Formats: sequence, C-alpha cells, structure tokens
Amino acid sequence: MYKINDNYLKLPGSYLFSTIGKKVAAYSAEHPEKQIIRLGIGDVTQPLAPAIIEALHKAVDEMGKAETFHGYAPDLGYEFLRNAIAKHDYQDRGADISEDEIFVSDGAKCDAGNIQEIFSVDNKIAVCDPVYPVYVDTNVMAGRTGTYDPKTETWSDVIYMPCTAENGFAPELPKETPDLIYLCFPNNPTGSTVTKAQLQEWVDYANRVGAVIIYDAAYEAYISEEDVPHTIYECEGARTCAIELRSFSKNAGFTGVRLGYTVIPKDLKQGDVSLHALWARRHGTKYNGAPYIVQRAGEAVYSPEGKAQLKEQVAYYMNNAKTILEGLKAAGYTVSGGVNAPYIWLKTPDGMNSWEFFDYLLERAGVVGTPGSGFGPSGEGYFRLTAFGSYENTVAALERIKSM
Ligand code: MLT
Repeated sequence: MYKINDNYLKLPGSYLFSTIGKKVAAYSAEHPEKQIIRLGIGDVTQPLAPAIIEALHKAVDEMGKAETFHGYAPDLGYEFLRNAIAKHDYQDRGADISEDEIFVSDGAKCDAGNIQEIFSVDNKIAVCDPVYPVYVDTNVMAGRTGTYDPKTETWSDVIYMPCTAENGFAPELPKETPDLIYLCFPNNPTGSTVTKAQLQEWVDYANRVGAVIIYDAAYEAYISEEDVPHTIYECEGARTCAIELRSFSKNAGFTGVRLGYTVIPKDLKQGDVSLHALWARRHGTKYNGAPYIVQRAGEAVYSPEGKAQLKEQVAYYMNNAKTILEGLKAAGYTVSGGVNAPYIWLKTPDGMNSWEFFDYLLERAGVVGTPGSGFGPSGEGYFRLTAFGSYENTVAALERIKSM
C-alpha cells in the first residue's frame, strides 16, 4: 500500500494567493455588477516591451527552420543569456560572479521552493516574519519545520525574525543560530530594504556561524535609493555563504513568460562539497531548461533598447507606488514601502485585523489587496497593496479607498 508524503497534510489552508483568488471569485459571482480592482497578487499588467517582443518573434522564426532550430537547452541555460546576466547584473556592479555560476530557470518561485532540496532535513531555517509564503511552505513539504501551532500560526522548528514598525521592517540577527537564512530585499511583502552595511552584517554573521543565506532579489529593479545593495554579492564574503535568486517577472513583465535564475558561487562549500555541484546535479536531473525562445527574450532585457524600455516600465509602476503611498497618507493611513519596491505596506485602520480589512475593502471599495497576516503572524494588522496595476486602476482604487 502506498503512503503519501504526509508533510503536505501539515500545511494549514491553501496557498495564500489561491485563497484570495477563490474569495474574490466567490464575491464576483455574487456581485457581478461590481468592477473589482485587483491590487492583491504582485502580477504585472503592462505588455512586454517592444525589444522583448521583437526577440520573441525572431526566436520563434528560428525554431521554424532546420538550420536554426533548437532542442533541449543546455543544463545551466544558454551562454548568450548567462553571459548577459553575469555582465549586466553582476560584473558591471563590481560583483564577482561568472557566467558558469548562473543557473537559468523558469522562474524564481520554483527555485525558491526547490533550493531547500540540496540541504539536509535537519537544517533549521530562519525566515522574516512576515514572509513570502513559498519559503516556509516548501520547507514544510520537505519535513523540516516541526509542528504547527494554529494559535501562534508558527512552526516549532522555524526561527522567526519579526519585521515590525519598530525595527523598520528589517530583521535583526536571530538569537538561535540557523543553518539556512531566507532574506528578501527589497522585501516582499513590506517593501522595506536594508543598506549595504546592514546586509554586510548578515553576510559576516552567516560566514561566522556556517549558515547559508538564500537571498531573494526579485525586486532589485525597483531600487531607487543610493545605499541599497542590488545584489548580495556586493558584500564582501558573500561568495562563501550566499545563494541569490533572481526573476524576470517583475523587472521585465515575464510573470506569464517564465524566466529566472539562481546564482551559486563556486566558493560556497560544505567541507569539500560544492553546493554549485549539487544544484547542477539536481538541475540536470530534474529540469530541461527554460525554452530557447524565452531565453532569447531574456537576452533582450539587457540590450540597450530593452534596458531603456524596461526602465520606463519600472518607472510606470513606481509612479503607481507613489500614487498609492501619497494617497493613503493623505487619507490618514500609516504606510511604508513603495520607494524601493512595488509593494505598499499599510496598517489596517480602526483595529481591524488583516482579513477583516480585506473583506471591508472588497465590499466597500471593490479593491483587492493582500492581508498581512497571510505572510506570517507579525503581518497581522497590516495589509499589502501592489503597484503593478494600471495607472487608471490605481487612481480609481485610491479614489474609492478615500471615499470609504
Ligand atoms: C506576490 O504577490 O507576493 C508575488 O507575486 C508572488 C510571486 O511572485 O510568486
């Protein structure tokens, strides 16, 4: 008789964004006359930039001719894309990362979920609280998190690092020593950042205690302030303690195209064992690579035209972020984020809890956001709005919120 992986049974509820999707669909079915504005999941709304469309068309045509047809992609990704990534995202920023330390994939969510596989189930993880739920849930599936306490909404074997208004939504070094540390900056969901000096402290700490930092930099393109690091490899010593996850979803609108990458420096070793080699083994065995067409589209992100067009796209979303931030402030809300990230983090009014405010906002304004408590217990009493809507919808949502 077969047995299931009963770690899955420990997971409370469904994935946060599936729960929200179901709730909104049910509300819509009951109120078909209502025009709902979705500022919940961080999904982009602007079309792909012309340089990317052009690269896609060209690659599609290549696939239609025997001489230029491409079958399976190389394990780590095509060199043309890995070279572009290494140069533009790392070497041009003074970060020492070479193209053979980059693993191209179909998105950062999969890599964020899969990376834990190369570590023992005995490892203890530390996460920010609130946190992108994928880090915790995938460790639950692997059996690494102990038991769940529904009262505190925490796992017995997870180290939580509260990110609160008091610490500027930036975690402090944990009292208990973790083996794996998940960090995401600019942060999802709070939109907070750390300075280079603060991130250096984490790198020094990880090297000191022998931990690995899994650094999610999916929102790097939204950094507007000077002292905010664009990659963890700007910090000295990160090559021996950090894995970085990157996405093309938020900087280039690839949420429906799917492309991302993971960086594992060759200096990251446990004794003689290189983590790069383990991930290469996993990648080769379980993955056949992002499509050629999509990798060509990824390459166009780094062309001069692509860069200029995407700069405009990011500016468009950041203008939405400013609109939300200023609009909410004017309406008397306590808000943060939205300066180096496309997320605005607000305190729910009148002592409402996060889900109460979700319902209130949906019913009174027809606006969908994300309840802070869905990201962890320290998110209770907070709410996240995304800047990824259209400008018109963003303005309309603000008008509705102000007149609630
Ligand atoms: C979010 O809304 O937190 C993100 O869109 C989720 C994701 O990128 O997977």
